[in-house]
Amino acid sequence: MHLRLYVEEEDTFEQPKANCPAEEPRTEEQLLGQYIPLHYHFNMLQDRHRVGAFSEAIGAVVEPGMHVVELGGGTGILSWLAAQQGAKVTCVERNPALVARSRELLAKNRHGDRVTVVQRDARDYIPAEPVDLVICEMLHVGLLREKQLEVIQAFKKHYLEAFGNDAKLPKFLPEATTMLVQPVQFSYDFSGYHAPLPLFQDPAAIDNRTVELGEMATYANVFYDETYPTSFGGVLDLEVTHPGTFTALRFATQNLIAILTEQQRGIPWANQLLVLPMKEPVVVAAGERVRVEFNYTAGGTLESLAESLSVEVRFANDAVRKVA
Ligand SMILES: C[S@@+](CC[C@H](N)C(=O)[O-])C[C@H]1O[C@@H](n2cnc3c(N)ncnc32)[C@H](O)[C@@H]1O
Repeated sequence: MHLRLYVEEEDTFEQPKANCPAEEPRTEEQLLGQYIPLHYHFNMLQDRHRVGAFSEAIGAVVEPGMHVVELGGGTGILSWLAAQQGAKVTCVERNPALVARSRELLAKNRHGDRVTVVQRDARDYIPAEPVDLVICEMLHVGLLREKQLEVIQAFKKHYLEAFGNDAKLPKFLPEATTMLVQPVQFSYDFSGYHAPLPLFQDPAAIDNRTVELGEMATYANVFYDETYPTSFGGVLDLEVTHPGTFTALRFATQNLIAILTEQQRGIPWANQLLVLPMKEPVVVAAGERVRVEFNYTAGGTLESLAESLSVEVRFANDAVRKVA
């Protein structure tokens, strides 16, 4: 989605963030992707890469008469796009502020009446009849913070319980997610102020702060119509292919919103890149190696990834330096 660099809270215009004392206790549900403030939904609506990819995928996949379910409908935009293709849509949203707002918005848009908004935790939702397609965009870098995997897994379980273990599961949009990591040289100099902090980058933006020191290495693939892991990590041995100063690891999350087999192409959309700083900069040469080890659970905090990281540089002279 668009820049999700926020602390989520049970939001709305009625409860602006500025009125919330910083020390107000936050529940894990609030911190981890369950409540996204309304103004971030407007950012998501404006994210042309995100909405464009879903719009193209929905246009290619949804046919008139289909029953489509959206899990986590937000403002209702993706449900509405499916309705434009002639589908009957059930839009499941947990946050009451968004349920109200999406109903209001759908009423203003042509064919909005083809969408029924249901206020429910998507993890408990069971459709009344079999459905053709499920749309779920709870995607965050590393599949952290939001509950994409948990929600889809629960949906599949309930679906098979309701319609029988032999029932054909609906198609899922997105269809797949690939997660990757690479060593980079990133300048943490902000107008002379040195601030090595975790941060996000827009994958579509031109970025002159970063030098890629190695290829992106895949550490996990998720196909939503298959059984998938819910924790990720392991040990990766990355090769330095470009000399520079290794300062950070960059995590990428690339989604295939739809795979159009007949056209032999996918419709991609990438999440924000996550850049995690190392403890100290290390000059590396081509051919040297970076050994990365981490382990985290999907839907967990960004810190859970950062805290699990162990990174060593293995130099050409066999020396080893631990940088995370
Ligand atoms: C990233 S937003 C996407 C919103 C919308 N689909 C879009 O594309 O603009 C994820 C949405 O899922 C909702 N959500 C998160 N967890 C949920 C859950 N367990 N059940 C239902 N909705 C949930 C959030 O409130 C939010 O509206």
